[in-house]
Amino acid sequence: MAQLELRDVHTAYGRSQVLFGVSFAVEPGECVALIGRNGVGKTTTIRSIAGLVAPRRGEVEWLGENIAGRPSHRIAKLGIGYVPEERRIFPELTVWENLDIARRETPGGWNENRVFELFPDLEPIQTRLGGVLSGGQQQMLTIARSLMGNPRLLLLDEPSEGLAPRVVESLRDQVQRLKDAGLSIVLAEQNLSFVLSLSDRCHIMEKGEIKHSGSTEELREHPEILERYLTV
Ligand SMILES: Nc1ncnc2c1ncn2[C@@H]1O[C@H](COP(=O)(O)OP(=O)(O)O)[C@@H](O)[C@H]1O
Ligand SMILES: [Mg+2]
Repeated sequence: MAQLELRDVHTAYGRSQVLFGVSFAVEPGECVALIGRNGVGKTTTIRSIAGLVAPRRGEVEWLGENIAGRPSHRIAKLGIGYVPEERRIFPELTVWENLDIARRETPGGWNENRVFELFPDLEPIQTRLGGVLSGGQQQMLTIARSLMGNPRLLLLDEPSEGLAPRVVESLRDQVQRLKDAGLSIVLAEQNLSFVLSLSDRCHIMEKGEIKHSGSTEELREHPEILERYLTV
């Protein structure tokens, strides 16, 4: 049994339907990528898993149970961490306070010490306010905050967006370490070198549907598949 499995998920915002039958699975410890141009439905797929928008049809099965349509705080408690595209940290809280409010004590779980080990740049700026952080620091804090809730799966929406190449490089290593630690990851990304170096499997989306699914290895060997869906 897969850890997470979407089956025929249809999602709409009001009368505008965005997802038309999205299906894919994530095995424990796997990094699965959603790729595709702007507006194809990557974020909506992630939001459908996180409970921020309820699918109209289809199933989101987590550890064998259908969680589609449950509220987001419930889904978070079940072990699904969501790192949104817009990096929603609290600007008036310090770095430490941003971490502290997300704390969910679990024996052997995440705490600020482990977080600072993974993101050493955050440690010296613990007392700084969230609102004055650089883009890279905000992204790391958003991921760190999600880790404080001890997720088993992380939903990462465009983590490298808008970051300097050097910052993207450290972020890549940090996400790799999370993967090495056994966390499952669903990664929506436009940065292909980032995605191809981290993921095990890729799903290419177009107009709210998955048009191609395959191993990352296949995509590395056949870049023409990517070109077919990603060039304008
Ligand atoms: N809250 C919303 N209300 C209405 N339409 C939306 C909303 N969010 C996204 N959309 C539309 O859904 C489509 C898919 O968007 P999105 O899932 O954000 O794609 P991606 O993440 O691949 O760029 C786009 O056409 C977008 O305009
Ligand atoms: Mg998006």
